[in-house]
Amino acid sequence: MAERCDWPLFALLRKPTGLPLHLPAHGRGRALAPELRRLLRRPAASWDLPELPALGGPLEEEGAVAEAQAACAALLGADRCWFGVNGASGLLQAALLGLAPPGSRVLLPRNLHRSLLHGCVLGHLEPLLFDLPFDPASGLWLPPTPAHLERVLEQALPLQPAALVLVDPTYQGQAADLAGLVATLRRLAPDLPVLVDQAHGEGTALAAGADLVVLSLQKAATGLAQSAALLQRGIRVDQGALERSLLWLQTSSPSALLLASAAAAIAHGQSAAGRHQRQRAVAGALALRQRLERLGFTLVANQDPLRMVLNTAALGINGLEADGWLLERGVVAELPEPGTLTFCLGLGATAGLGSRLPARLLALRRTLGGPAWEPFDPPPLPLLARPERGVGEAWRSRSQAVPLEAAAGRIAAEPLCPYPPGIPLLIPGERIDGPRAAWLARQRQRWPGQIADSVNVMANDQGGR
Ligand SMILES: Cc1ncc(COP(=O)(O)O)c(C=O)c1O
Repeated sequence: MAERCDWPLFALLRKPTGLPLHLPAHGRGRALAPELRRLLRRPAASWDLPELPALGGPLEEEGAVAEAQAACAALLGADRCWFGVNGASGLLQAALLGLAPPGSRVLLPRNLHRSLLHGCVLGHLEPLLFDLPFDPASGLWLPPTPAHLERVLEQALPLQPAALVLVDPTYQGQAADLAGLVATLRRLAPDLPVLVDQAHGEGTALAAGADLVVLSLQKAATGLAQSAALLQRGIRVDQGALERSLLWLQTSSPSALLLASAAAAIAHGQSAAGRHQRQRAVAGALALRQRLERLGFTLVANQDPLRMVLNTAALGINGLEADGWLLERGVVAELPEPGTLTFCLGLGATAGLGSRLPARLLALRRTLGGPAWEPFDPPPLPLLARPERGVGEAWRSRSQAVPLEAAAGRIAAEPLCPYPPGIPLLIPGERIDGPRAAWLARQRQRWPGQIADSVNVMANDQGGR
């Protein structure tokens, strides 16, 4: 009999269970890009090839990968496209390093993904963190408006940042007026490049005027996890510098499967079949949304119908608690947060979704529901914050743990970063003031199991940068 290993890793992957309302958006293969599906039907791993001359790789000028990248660039209206096999995380870091020389500053939104923070450490960059509008009903940060960005830029531009980063859409599917934001930037700083983290989007930021865009092709498209793309357009970004940083951060053996996944996901997304697939998924999602609203559930307003964000605070339930309860009953959501639970409906039809999800949510409300929560208090943050010490310096420094309540006046030596969503509430090098310490202590109650009672602060935080 053939050998069989019964470690849970294999058992779980062989037979995943539960109603899948999580990423990747191909929904356990149901909506996989057709070309990828065909490939995976070939004899197992026959496609796992090295960078053979005919194939090449993301940084080679010749070969099938280069050809596919050029075709994807043309499909998406980019000058260049590079595939990545370490997710949007790896490409965001490469993009940041390509944009900003060591010691320079980068203007980042407070809802940055942690990979950008790690990029600041790797590239020895100083993050200038700008605050965002906040929704007290859901506890979520909202996309900035052009007027908000204008106020940020007025404060930030004298500090001469090397680049601006925007996140659009957010994990919860909330989209900004990106064209308006880029127009504001161009009016105030015509030469400042903007990188848009479209991990959850489809590349439309290029048409809005972005210089660089990063896509995670498993989140809003039909690729496998870790397949991603970096798109570049225009003259503000040095392609050579980008390729150099891609070289620094990329494996020397990129997976041919993941490169093919990136190509297949982009090609399918732009095809008539891909557009129909999305339309069908969106129609199903809108019907489900109506059903849930008729049943009295509050869904957070957003622009991506495939992200269904249940306001659990309105039910009197913490989103993390709701997630745990639903998981035990076979509903696997994507993103629990204190005031919300985000379901990713994906691009394939999920059998029984229209009846099973409403039934489970009604049971959740009956069992755990109570009076709606008081509105969330916004984080007490300045419009623009500069860490007092370098992120990498603080993170590597000798540190000591202090209770959150007693952290006022100290400099953080580690991020506080619930995951998911992977958005840091505090970054290394930031000095924690009294209101922030009190806010963080309150966050601990809202993020059970995600935020510890204490925070590591620099043991010796005398002196500034
Ligand atoms: C806004 C945002 N950017 C980037 C990433 C990283 O994407 P990936 O998981 O493909 O590395 C995430 C992951 O959740 C994200 O939410």
